[in-house]
Amino acid sequence: MEQSTPKSQPLLRPLEFRGHRLERNLILAPMAGVTNLPFRLIAREAGAALVFTETVSAKGLVNGGPKSWRLVDSSPQEAPIAYQLFGRDIDALAEATKQLVDRGAVFIDLNLGCPVKKFIRNGAGSALMKEPEQVAPIVSAMRRAIPNGVLSVKMRLGWNLEQITAPEVARVSEAEGADFVSVHGRTRSQFYSGHADHKRIREVVEAVRIPVFANGDITEAQHAIDMLNDTGAAGVMIGRGAMGNPWIFSQIVELAEGRPIPRPSPDERLALVHRHVDSMIRYFDDPRSTVHMLKKYLCAYSTGIPGASDFRDRINRSTDLEWVVDHADEFFRSAA
Ligand SMILES: Cc1cc2nc3c(=O)[nH]c(=O)nc-3n(C[C@H](O)[C@H](O)[C@H](O)COP(=O)(O)O)c2cc1C
Repeated sequence: MEQSTPKSQPLLRPLEFRGHRLERNLILAPMAGVTNLPFRLIAREAGAALVFTETVSAKGLVNGGPKSWRLVDSSPQEAPIAYQLFGRDIDALAEATKQLVDRGAVFIDLNLGCPVKKFIRNGAGSALMKEPEQVAPIVSAMRRAIPNGVLSVKMRLGWNLEQITAPEVARVSEAEGADFVSVHGRTRSQFYSGHADHKRIREVVEAVRIPVFANGDITEAQHAIDMLNDTGAAGVMIGRGAMGNPWIFSQIVELAEGRPIPRPSPDERLALVHRHVDSMIRYFDDPRSTVHMLKKYLCAYSTGIPGASDFRDRINRSTDLEWVVDHADEFFRSAA
């Protein structure tokens, strides 16, 4: 079993789980409504060594729900990919894991981090951080359902600052056979306020022998280096920071190797926007939902460009896919 990073190890390095190799210890976080297939492919090309699906209901998969199955659509080009499940029903989580494994899944992740009410009401997501004793049979049943693949658990620090359970939940997960955990350095009560707590992530790293990925607020290459140094984590997981800047993964590699951070040229950004728009239009067939989703990425790509705020206002007022695409083309072309 991998040890969490001793000081002597290089900050960036490959990792191996049950014979499955990650090229480096930089991974993309699961994000509902964001980490769909087109975006995951972009993140993989940009240097994320592992990408996660949006979170998927275990019950939804087991019941054959088309929306749930659509969320786990994948393409061989994006491998390795982790499928993230949420729920609290042990049988459903185990059965969903088995069904995904039967269809070729190699990495499965359990969501213990989601703070939204819909999850909490059902005792799933970060509600499970209050119940380490409930996590044990879930991880154990999922482990049995993926005997040769890689099982991971993604968590927050705990329910609130009075109930920091991540070290215990990580230990339970390790004992029941999880291969790695990732920790977002906030509690459920914090949602996204304040800052990810590096010191508390370090406590999780020190609580287990399996690798820990540290997560939260990495929006620049230097933040990843600081996170690795501060926490001693085996790797970092990046979410929002990759959305408008998928280049962050290669920027971290360059910085860690002592080279200047490469910034995408305006032409490179324009080319990526074109490719992303085209792949979204090809992948999603309904223009209304395509335009709704596309706007999130276009807004993120516009960060830092003069006139970005007006551009965002304009596209956010439109629901016309063709107009938004043309307008984005004009905006990013004039920035190039
Ligand atoms: C829009 C959005 C959707 C998210 N969806 C999920 C999810 O489906 N599963 C999950 O475990 N975490 C989810 N998260 C949390 C992220 O994976 C990550 O833990 C969090 O954003 C902190 O990392 P960051 O600061 O790098 O974004 C989501 C976050 C955002 C912003």
